[in-house]
Amino acid sequence: MGDVVGSAGCSAALDLVPKLREELRLDAVIANAENSAPGGRGITNESGSALLSVVDFLTLGNHTFDAEGHEEFLEREERVVRPANFGGSLPGRGWGVFEAGGVTVGVTNVLGRIFVDRTSVSPFEAADRAVSELEALGADLVLVDAHAEATSEKQALGYHLAGRAQAVLGTHTHVPTADASILSGGTAYISDVGMTGCEESIIGFDRDIFLGLFLGERRWLPVASQGPVLFSSVLLDLDVEGRRAARIEPALRTWTP
Ligand SMILES: [Fe+2]
Ligand SMILES: [Fe+2]
Repeated sequence: MGDVVGSAGCSAALDLVPKLREELRLDAVIANAENSAPGGRGITNESGSALLSVVDFLTLGNHTFDAEGHEEFLEREERVVRPANFGGSLPGRGWGVFEAGGVTVGVTNVLGRIFVDRTSVSPFEAADRAVSELEALGADLVLVDAHAEATSEKQALGYHLAGRAQAVLGTHTHVPTADASILSGGTAYISDVGMTGCEESIIGFDRDIFLGLFLGERRWLPVASQGPVLFSSVLLDLDVEGRRAARIEPALRTWTP
C-alpha cells in the first residue's frame, strides 16, 4: 500500500486489509504510513499501532518526524523503517526484516533528493548499504520503498537495484502510475503505488483549501475527511527460491465509510 493519509485512510485500511488478505490470499501486507497521523502529516503511536494491527510492516518518508509521538514509536517498534538515507543520529531504523509464511522479508525505505529533501545523503548509496545489511540479516527477499517526487529518480533507483531487490515500489506522489513492470533481473517496479485517502481531495488534503494555496491564499491545509476513500496498492507475487518477482499488478479499491 502506498501512503495512507489521515484518519480516513487508516479507517479504510483497518476495514479493507483483513478482507483483502482473505480475498487475495495475501501472505503479507506492507504500507507506507508517513501520512497516517490524524492531521495527515507524520505517524503517531496510535496511527502506527492501528495500522500494524492489520499490516505486517510500515515504511515512511519525508513526513517521518512531523507528528508528536513519532520518536517513541520509531524506537520501540521493530516493524517500521524510515528513510535509510536520513542521518544516523535521527530516531528509527533504515532497514528491517519480518517473517511471513516461513520467509524472511527485508524492507528498506529511501528518500529521493529531487524536489523533496536535498539534505539527505544519496538514496542510491543508502540503498546499496541497506541491501547488503538485509542480506546479512538473512533476508530471503528485499523490498524497497522508493519515496520520491521525480519519476526519473525512482526509475533510476529501480534500475540501480534491479536483480538485487525483488521490488522497488515508488511512493510519495499519492497518485498511482500505470507503469508496473518487471525489470530484468526480476525486480518488480512501479513509479508510484498511489495513496489510500479521500478520493475527492488533492493528494488526500482538502481540495478547496489546497487550491487556495495555489491561488495565493495562505492557510493551514487540513487533511480531507469526507466521502469515499481510494485504496491504492500493488499486488506482488514473489518467487522466493528464484529470488525474483513473478507478477506485479495494481490493486485499487474504493471504500465507503
Ligand atoms: Fe505522502
Ligand atoms: Fe512523502
